Amino acid sequence: MLRILMMSGDPVAQLIARHPDKDPYSVYESIREKGVLVRGNIGAFATCDHELASAILRDSSRFGSFAIAKAKPIDTTVYDDNGERLIVPMDDSFLSMDPPDHTRLRRMVAPWFSPRAIRERTATIETMLEELLDDLAAQGEWDAVNDLAVRVPIRVISAFFGIGEEDFELFRRWGGIIGTSVDGIRTMGDLKTFRQMLIEMQEFFGDLIELRKREPGNDLVTFMVQAEPEGEPLSWHDMVATCGVLLGAGFETTVNLIGNCILTVLSDPDLRQQLIDSPELIPNAVEEVLRWDAPVQYLLRVTTEPVTIAGVDIPADSPVFVVVGGANRDPKVFGDNAQEFDLHRKNSREHLTFGDGIHLCVGAGLARIEAAATLRVLLRKFPDLHLADGAERRPTRVVRGMTSLPVRPGAGAVRA
Ligand code: HEM
Repeated sequence: MLRILMMSGDPVAQLIARHPDKDPYSVYESIREKGVLVRGNIGAFATCDHELASAILRDSSRFGSFAIAKAKPIDTTVYDDNGERLIVPMDDSFLSMDPPDHTRLRRMVAPWFSPRAIRERTATIETMLEELLDDLAAQGEWDAVNDLAVRVPIRVISAFFGIGEEDFELFRRWGGIIGTSVDGIRTMGDLKTFRQMLIEMQEFFGDLIELRKREPGNDLVTFMVQAEPEGEPLSWHDMVATCGVLLGAGFETTVNLIGNCILTVLSDPDLRQQLIDSPELIPNAVEEVLRWDAPVQYLLRVTTEPVTIAGVDIPADSPVFVVVGGANRDPKVFGDNAQEFDLHRKNSREHLTFGDGIHLCVGAGLARIEAAATLRVLLRKFPDLHLADGAERRPTRVVRGMTSLPVRPGAGAVRA
C-alpha cells in the first residue's frame, strides 16, 4: 500500500517508506515545493518549514507526543508473560508526558545535564578518547562508527548509571533496536525483538534500582532512588522509564552525530585542515553537522483536537511529521546556501535537531561536548586520517547516519 502511494508521488508516503539509497533531502525539497504543510493520501501531514515546525513543537497541547507502542500498522502494546504491560521507555517516560508530570520528572534529571555538570565531564570524556584512540592506533584500518563512535556515548551513559563497560554489548544491542523501532514497528519479527528487549531492559534497570537502594553510589540512579520531588518518592515505573529513555534517547542519536561529524570532516580535506589548524572552530563544525546532516531527521506529533494551521485544516488524531532535517535547510532561515555545509555559518544553532518547546533535548549540551571532544582528539592524534572503502549507510529513516565507516591513517584519500 505504502509503496503504491509512494510510486504515485505521495510526499508523506515518500517520507516514511524505506528509501535507504535515496537522498532524503530531495524528498524534503519536494515537500517544501508542495507547500508549508502538506497532506498525504494516508491522512498524515508533513512540514519542512522551519517556522511552522518550531510552532508545532512548541504547541504541545494541540500537537501531542506520539507513542511508538501505538504506531500503526501493528498495535505494539507489549506485555510480559504474566500479562503485565511492559514499560516502553520512549512512551512511558517524561519524553512523552505532559505537564505537570513532565515538569516534575524533567526537573529531577536536569541538574545532571547543567552546563557545569557537563564541563566537569569533559575532561573524563577526553581522557577516555585518548585511551580509545591509542588502542586504535595499533590497528591499520578501523571503523569510526563501530570502534569509536558507539563507545563514547555508551561510556558516558554508563557513568550516569554508575556502571563500567561490562554491559557495553547489551546497551549497544538495545540502542540498535530502539534506533530502528522509532521508524515504526512493522512486522511481527520486529515486535518480538522489541518485546524481548523491553523484558531485558526492565529487568536490568529494576535490578540496578534495587542495588542502589542497598548500596548507594554517586550516580543518577542513586539520586532517583533517594529523590522525593514534591514530597513523594519516585515510582519504580518512573525510575525504570527514566533510565530507559536516557539510554534510548542518548545513545543512537549521539553515535550517529559523531559518525556524521567524522564522515563530513574526512570527506573534505580542506575542512579537515581548517579544523586541525583552528581547533576552536570544532564546535561550529559540530553545530553545522547537526543542522546539515541531522542524526534525527523527523519527529512525529498527533493532533489532540481539530487544528487549523498555515491555512490547512487538520482533523483530531492526525499524525503530523515535523521534518527537522528539512526545516534545518529552510532557505528562509539559512539562506540560499542552506543545502551546503558552511563552517562559518552564523546561525547554525537555529537548527531544530534537538527539538523545541518543553521536550527540547535535555542532553543537547552533552551530545555537543561528546562530538566536539571526539573530533578534537581524533584530529590531534590522526591528522592524516582518511576514509577507506566500505562505508555503509543505515537503512533507518528517523535516525540518519552510518552503520560502518572504515578509516585509515596515511595518504590516499578515498571519498565517500
Ligand atoms: C545528537 C544527539 C541527540 C539528538 C539529535 C537528540 C534529539 C532529541 C530530540 C529531537 C528530542 C525531542 C523529542 C521530541 O520532541 O519528540 C530529545 C529529547 C530528549 N533527549 Fe535527546 N538527543 C540527543 C542526545 C541526547 C543525550 C546525550 C541524552 C541523554 C543522555 C538525551 C536525552 C533526551 C531526553 C531525556 C529527552 C526528553 C526531554 C523531554 O521530553 O523533556 N538526548 N532529544
